[in-house]
Amino acid sequence: MGRFDGQVVWITGGGSGLGAAMARRFAAQGAKVAVSGRRADRLEEVAAAIRAGGGEALAVPVDVVDEAAVQAAVGLIVEKLGGLDVAVANAGYGVMGTVERLTDAAWRKQLDVNVFGALNVVRHALPELKKSRGRVALVGSVAAFANPPSNAAYSASKAAIRAIGLTLSAELGGTGITCTTIHPGFVASEIGQVDNEGVFHADRKDPRPKALMWATDDAAKVMVDAIAARRREFVFTGHGKLVVLLSRLAPGLLAALVAKTAPKRSRATDPSPARA
Ligand SMILES: NC(=O)c1ccc[n+]([C@@H]2O[C@H](COP(=O)([O-])OP(=O)(O)OC[C@H]3O[C@@H](n4cnc5c(N)ncnc54)[C@H](OP(=O)(O)O)[C@@H]3O)[C@@H](O)[C@H]2O)c1
Repeated sequence: MGRFDGQVVWITGGGSGLGAAMARRFAAQGAKVAVSGRRADRLEEVAAAIRAGGGEALAVPVDVVDEAAVQAAVGLIVEKLGGLDVAVANAGYGVMGTVERLTDAAWRKQLDVNVFGALNVVRHALPELKKSRGRVALVGSVAAFANPPSNAAYSASKAAIRAIGLTLSAELGGTGITCTTIHPGFVASEIGQVDNEGVFHADRKDPRPKALMWATDDAAKVMVDAIAARRREFVFTGHGKLVVLLSRLAPGLLAALVAKTAPKRSRATDPSPARA
């Protein structure tokens, strides 16, 4: 018997990285899984692998920025899989560039996908989750607690996710639905190969420090455990926990540490044209 036997789980950003690994993990624990993202071929691969292993999975291509499409996706999942018990707003990417140089367009796209995309998912999943007294999960980042150079847009988007998630937890009190806001540290995925336009490049080198990176399946395990336990907020990787601790107890030290490691990165990866 799996922990999620017969439950319907919807994961955005389910075609790669953390989302695909969570989909496999939920499916292994008995869930019927729907995966969403923009690239239908990647979603089909994930769904087909789950089906090949004896599970039930549905690929539901959707751009989370498109609210009507998100609403339609929820309708399709309920129709095909019979309801909705867990919605994981995981789709996201990272815009890099200094505050001085990053354009409004880049800022807007970052906030559109990471913040408004998650809000679309939450708003349209909640009516179904009310019926199942289910779970919603938002994927933030330890970047919400640290502010290295060239990371303002991403950190701001994840700080917004934290505020939304914790507020939602309070608003849902007594309804039987819970919200789990998850802040990963570095995890192996494709996020480091995605450009400021949100486009994946297979040949792009991930600039993140490999030594600090968790394996994707290990991350999915603790994320699914946190959602199963209806945790309010969950931070993981040892380094991620340390960042959050330092942000509370020694913010000056944390600022000095991230500033020390980041200038190289900002020069190397700031592709944004100067503001007019
Ligand atoms: N890996 C880490 O170290 C780390 C650390 C902290 C937080 N996170 C967060 O974890 C989440 C998952 O990222 P990941 O690391 O697993 O990276 P990833 O492998 O690049 O996965 C991100 C997924 O989001 C989807 N996505 C992007 N824009 C979308 C849009 N507009 N509509 C629908 N789907 C969209 C992508 O699919 P399509 O391109 O097909 O749309 C992709 O499958 C993100 O929110 C990220 O910020 C990751």
